[in-house]
Amino acid sequence: MKWWQTAVFYQIYPRSFADGNGDGIGDFPGMIQKLDYLQALGIDAVWLSPHFPSPMFDCGYDISDYTGVAPEYGTLDDFQHFLDEAHSRGMYVILDLVLNHTSDQHPWFIESRSNRTNPKRDWYIWKDGKNGGPPNDWCSCFDGAAWEYDEETSQYYYHYFFKQQPDLNWRNPAVKQAMFDAARFWLRMGVDGFRLDAIGTIFERPDLRNHNTGFNLASLRDLERRSTTPEERRQFVRQWIRTFHHQFGQPGLHELMKELRSVLNEFPGDRMLVGEDADVAYLGNGHDELNMVFNFPLMDAVPLTPASVRKNQKNRLALLAPVNGWPCNTLGNHDAGHFIARFNPTEAPALARLHTAVLLTLRGTPFIYNGDEIGMTHLTISNVSDFRDLLGSWVYNEDIQQLHMTHDQALAHAAETTRDKGRTPMQWANTSNGGFCPPSASPWLPVNPNYAQGINVADQDPDPSSLLNFHRRLLTLRRQVPALIEGEFTALLPRSRYLLAYLRKNASQTVLVVLNFSDVPRIFAWKSTGPSKYNNLHTLYSASGISNSKSAIRLAPFDIFIGELQ
Ligand code: GLC
Repeated sequence: MKWWQTAVFYQIYPRSFADGNGDGIGDFPGMIQKLDYLQALGIDAVWLSPHFPSPMFDCGYDISDYTGVAPEYGTLDDFQHFLDEAHSRGMYVILDLVLNHTSDQHPWFIESRSNRTNPKRDWYIWKDGKNGGPPNDWCSCFDGAAWEYDEETSQYYYHYFFKQQPDLNWRNPAVKQAMFDAARFWLRMGVDGFRLDAIGTIFERPDLRNHNTGFNLASLRDLERRSTTPEERRQFVRQWIRTFHHQFGQPGLHELMKELRSVLNEFPGDRMLVGEDADVAYLGNGHDELNMVFNFPLMDAVPLTPASVRKNQKNRLALLAPVNGWPCNTLGNHDAGHFIARFNPTEAPALARLHTAVLLTLRGTPFIYNGDEIGMTHLTISNVSDFRDLLGSWVYNEDIQQLHMTHDQALAHAAETTRDKGRTPMQWANTSNGGFCPPSASPWLPVNPNYAQGINVADQDPDPSSLLNFHRRLLTLRRQVPALIEGEFTALLPRSRYLLAYLRKNASQTVLVVLNFSDVPRIFAWKSTGPSKYNNLHTLYSASGISNSKSAIRLAPFDIFIGELQ
C-alpha cells in the first residue's frame, strides 16, 4: 500500500495552531515545538493550510506570493526546518495548493489590472460590461456578484470567491506554467504532496451564459438560514447548484489534473494529491489524476446515525469501485469547523468518541482537524469587529442593508455563517489564552473560554478517560491491526436504527466493529448477522469494558466494541 493510504492525517491551521514567538499568531517555530505532540498522538502526516504571504482577506486562501512564507509565520528557513523535523519523525507534510485564484495584491494581478495591454492582462478573466452592468448574472459564493468593476481600465474581472481573490485564467498556458513552477518549488524542497483547494471552480463556461435563477447571494444565504428540515436543506443545495452550475465542473479539468499529476511524477517518492471537491471523477482512470477526494457527504451528515453511515459507505464505495479509488474520510476542517459543535452538549462527549471511532475504523485515510482530538467546539462571535473571516462581516452587512434584519438577527446569522467560529486558537492548557499565547499577547481570534472546562491538551494528557487519550488508544490500535487499514468493509445489521456494525477483513484478519448510537444498553447477537461461524472473539477495544460471550455482545449506552474474529 502507498503511504497516503495507511497514514492518518492531521490538518494544521497555521494561524491558530501554536504561537512560538508570543505575538498571538501561530507560526512555524510553534508548529515545530508541537511535532512531538503530534507524533505521540499517532499522526503520520500533516496537511498545512496556506502558509504563504497573504493580505488575509480569506485567512491565507488569498495568496500574494506562491513561493514564500507569510512573515508572521516565519521564514523559508523556518519552513524547511519544520519539514525536516517532520520528516525526521517519519511524518509526511502536504501543502495547500490554491490554483483557482490569487490575492488581488499578487504582483501578477497588480500588473494585470494596470492596463488592458499589459502582458499579464490575460492571466485573469477580464470582460466588458453589458447594458451598463456586469457581463452576466453570475454570483460569487462569498460576497455578492461575481464581477468587480475596475475603474482604471473600465472592465470587469471575475471572482468566484471574495473580490480580493480574482480568478486566474487557466485557459492561458502561461498561468499553468507559472503555477506548476510554484508547485515544483515546494516539491523540490521535499513536500510530500498537496491538498488542492477549490479545483472544481478552475474553469468557467466560456460563453458566460446567464443562470437566470432569480437568486443572488444574499437571498441564497437567507434561504440557507431558513432551511432547517432535511428536505429544505436538500432543496437549498439544489438551488445553490442551479445558481452556480456554469461556474464549476467545466470541461478541461481532467486534462489539467493529468498534467499536474505528471508534474508530481517528475519527483521521486509517492507525492500525493487530495482534492477538496467531492467529485470522485477526478481520481481519473488509472490513477493519473488525484489520489483521493474527501468524503464530504460523510462530514455533512454529522451527527451521524447508523443508517446515514451505512448509506454513505454504500454510495461512496460504489462510486470509488470503478476507478479503484481509495476513500478519504473527515469530520471537520477550517470551513466546516469542529464536528463536536454539532452535538447537544450532554451527549457530546459520548458522540465525539463514537464519531471518532467511525472515522478511524472505516475504510479510507482519515483526516483529523486540529483541536478535534480534544473536543474543541465553536465560539459564538458576539462583536462585529471580532470577525476575521469576511464572510461574517459580509452576511451581517447584507442582512441589515438588503434584508432589513435587526442588529441582533443579523449578528446571529453572521456568527453562524462565519468560519471564524471553528478557527479559534488551539487550546493547549488551562492558563490564560488557553496556553496558545502569553497573557500579554492578544490572540488573532478570541480563544474559546471553554479551555477552562477541561477542553485543553494539558488537562487531558494525563487523564486516561479523556478524548485525547481515546484518540491515542484508537490510533495505536489502528497501527497494530492491519485489517483496520487495508481490510474490505462489509456493513452488518442493515436495518438497525441504533447499532452500527461492520466487518473489516483482509487476507488474514477479520475485525468486527459495533457502535451503540443509543443511550440505552443494546445486544448485538451473532445470529442476526450471519458470521455465526466465528466462535472466538478477541476483544481489541471495548469502551465499557463489559466482557462478552461467544453468542452476543452486550453494549452499554454509546458503547464502542472492536474485536477480532477467529
Ligand atoms: C476552499 C477553502 C476555503 C477558501 C476557499 C477559497 O474552499 O477551503 O477556506 O475560502 O477555498 O480559496
